[in-house]
Amino acid sequence: MEKIYQELLNEAKKISKNTYSPYSNFPVGACVLYENGNKYLGCNVENASYGLALCAERNAISSAISNGEKSKIKAVAIYSPKQKRCMPCGACRQWLSEFALNGHDTKIILEDDDDKLLILTLDEIFPFGFKFDEK
Ligand code: THU
Repeated sequence: MEKIYQELLNEAKKISKNTYSPYSNFPVGACVLYENGNKYLGCNVENASYGLALCAERNAISSAISNGEKSKIKAVAIYSPKQKRCMPCGACRQWLSEFALNGHDTKIILEDDDDKLLILTLDEIFPFGFKFDEK
């Protein structure tokens, strides 16, 4: 599994090079792995109107949904060359939770010091998230 997670992080690294982030100078890449094995990539895209920036994770999930993905998110790797342990923002945690595995066992893969992997679960970093019970 560790090898698969390392591959996800490598893909997140690669896609972070496509960033459009001239305002923050903070590139981010994300690679989302679904239960069925499909993978989708995203990078952050900023705008002169700063608040309109799109995060890498949400871009990757948007790409998945646009491509007809119906499976659940098994893992997501997030990478920034500017920061180790680049954690998903609150909005991205909420987005991930919408498509996460039951029990939020979805793995969050980050680069730690010494190029090691830090592996967390969505449940650990996003307990008590909002749910729409009427669905
Ligand atoms: N960013 C992401 O892409 N993902 C996150 O989870 C946190 C922040 C981006 C948004 C913005 O382009 C830059 O990082 C600095 O906030």
